[in-house]
Amino acid sequence: MKDIPKHVAFIMDGNGRWAKARKLPRNAGHKAGSEALQNIVEYANTLGIEYVTAYTFSTENWNRPKEEIEGIMSLLENYLDDAIKKSKRRDLRVKVIGKKEGLSNSIITKIEKLEKLTKDKKSLCVVFAINYGGRDEIVRAISKIIEEDINTEITEDLLEQFLDTNGIPDPDFLIRTSGELRTSNFLPWQLAYSEFYFTDKLWPDFTTADFDIALLDYAKRKRRFGKTV
Ligand code: IPE
Ligand code: IPE
Ligand code: MG
Repeated sequence: MKDIPKHVAFIMDGNGRWAKARKLPRNAGHKAGSEALQNIVEYANTLGIEYVTAYTFSTENWNRPKEEIEGIMSLLENYLDDAIKKSKRRDLRVKVIGKKEGLSNSIITKIEKLEKLTKDKKSLCVVFAINYGGRDEIVRAISKIIEEDINTEITEDLLEQFLDTNGIPDPDFLIRTSGELRTSNFLPWQLAYSEFYFTDKLWPDFTTADFDIALLDYAKRKRRFGKTV
């Protein structure tokens, strides 16, 4: 396939509705969703996609019931344990964006360990957005700039260096599942020129075949970046 995007970002939405339709607890939906992500990541790697960013937990998701949050955090911790164990054999690079404050110490330690173990890996980079909010990211970036030097001239390049995504190219393609037509505070700076794709499929049902359909759609887009042709 030609015109493969270098960086695909996913808003993995619809886990709760997927579970509800099966009369299962919401956390069963999150578990199925995490399996769907692992399949998509493996497939993206075979296609030669360089970055996959996955919206895993937003700064607004703290407003959910305690047992749902605990379920998501425990799935995340299991994933980190497993990825740490497999890091020697696997060629994936892992990066985490979002606010560390609010996450448990044990999750923070495991994130740092996994990032360190995989930093020199050469194939796909998986970026997990955990406790991530785009507005929060921009506010943190500006605060850090001011902390370093209150008189700095603020430019786009400088601000980008202080975002969590520093060093990661902007997403070419954003996919959101579950039929919602919004970005929910996901990468507002970085998605400025990305192509958007929305599907009614619920995230746990999103397969590699659905990904192919989305990628074919992407290949037909004309990205102009403000130019005439
Ligand atoms: C997305 O699925 C996963 C997270 C936000 C953690 P949801 O849990 O939002 O699923 P719906 O939107 O309720 O179906
Ligand atoms: C966005 O989904 C966040 C993640 C997928 C992690 P939400 O379900 O939280 O978004 P809203 O509330 O429908 O906008
Ligand atoms: Mg949702």
